[in-house]
Amino acid sequence: MKKKILVAISGGIAVYKVAQLVSNLSKKYEIQVIMTKHARAFMSPLTFEALTGRAVPKAMFTPDVHYDQISHIHLAKWADIIIIAPATANLIAKMAHGLADDLLSTTMLATRSPILLCPAMNTNMLNHQATVANLELLQNRGIHILESERGLLACGDFGSGKLPEVSIIQETAEKLLEINQKQDLTGLEITVTAGPTQEALDPVRFITNHSSGIMGYSIAEAAQARGATVNLISGPTNITAPPGVSLIKVISARDMFDAVQSVFSETDILIKAAAVADYRPTETFRNKIKKQEGDLQVKFVRNPDILAWAGEHKQAHQVLCGFAMETEDLLDNAKAKLQKKNCDMLVANSLRDEGAGFGATTNVATLLWPNQEPKALTLMSKKDLSELILDELLKIKKVK
Ligand code: PMT
Repeated sequence: MKKKILVAISGGIAVYKVAQLVSNLSKKYEIQVIMTKHARAFMSPLTFEALTGRAVPKAMFTPDVHYDQISHIHLAKWADIIIIAPATANLIAKMAHGLADDLLSTTMLATRSPILLCPAMNTNMLNHQATVANLELLQNRGIHILESERGLLACGDFGSGKLPEVSIIQETAEKLLEINQKQDLTGLEITVTAGPTQEALDPVRFITNHSSGIMGYSIAEAAQARGATVNLISGPTNITAPPGVSLIKVISARDMFDAVQSVFSETDILIKAAAVADYRPTETFRNKIKKQEGDLQVKFVRNPDILAWAGEHKQAHQVLCGFAMETEDLLDNAKAKLQKKNCDMLVANSLRDEGAGFGATTNVATLLWPNQEPKALTLMSKKDLSELILDELLKIKKVK
């Protein structure tokens, strides 16, 4: 059966590019187009009707088309994914604040399908604090934002705000479709922590570690693909959040602790892949520390142990998966952490193993459980390891 894509068009000059997108997609997928009033001013719905073979509903309540076929609720459920292109500042603001005054905005409020939002507008409008905040809000709610391109805009200005090339929109949408297929984690809320934390010493310096976030992001992406609702709590990384996950960005261990606590009661499975700083400088200086004669001594205090806190507070139905990064005595140290932090499973990896640990796209892990022999895994991609970790955690969840 063909996958179903809803293409939602709001009013901007880039509408003309969307005709090409719809033409390409129609060859492989079932496409339904909906347009705002202003989008219709830029291009006739007839173009899209000819390309898709489907009527473009004229309004919320259209007497000339069977109501069940086009109501916002039907469309919201019908779509496997939704592409909004171009997305205007007005539409973005409406979505961010839950306004629903036409077919398109009502459908967006009603849907639970993954949304790919493609903003296109004048640079100043895009960079306005209001639009920036609205986009951040939407991204944190799990909407995937495709960054606009820089170039000469229709208004004559040069800068960001151009709708990305049709091929890029199509490629991203197809990735979203692909990862939205296997659904064995549907109904579960999974929280993943990823990346390093940064512990500030003064406004220009901080203590951190080498975690790239690849491991945690990979688990989050795999979990989302398998139908889970995913919270990704991430320290500073250079990785783009996978489409559809709810991203909470944090800096320090204490920020991460707050973020984990804020979603913990809703979480079914907590996976702690982040490399959290155990200590932070006792004092964060208000101004840059000046160079002076002699050495500088910095005192550190303990950070909260987030995993240990979760181990203490977890309910019977909640599954807790810790990680352990070691440089020596991998198994002994990992076993101690598994027990001390009351984990249901622990993924141990050693910096000494080639292809394991920080930064790489591969890992070598040993899985440990409280009442089972450890299982040593061979070198594999972090992507494959993520699937394996989720398989094991799902088994544990099923008996809880
Ligand atoms: O991000 P990548 O570059 O892909 O690298 C992946 C990784 C090496 C970071 C990952 O595989 C990994 O091992 N993550 C855990 C790193 C770590 O901090 O290990 P630890 O042994 O210090 O901590 C044990 C567990 O307690 C971890 O789950 C950690 O998230 C948690 N912890 C630690 C300290 C603290 N204050 N709070 C915590 O919750």
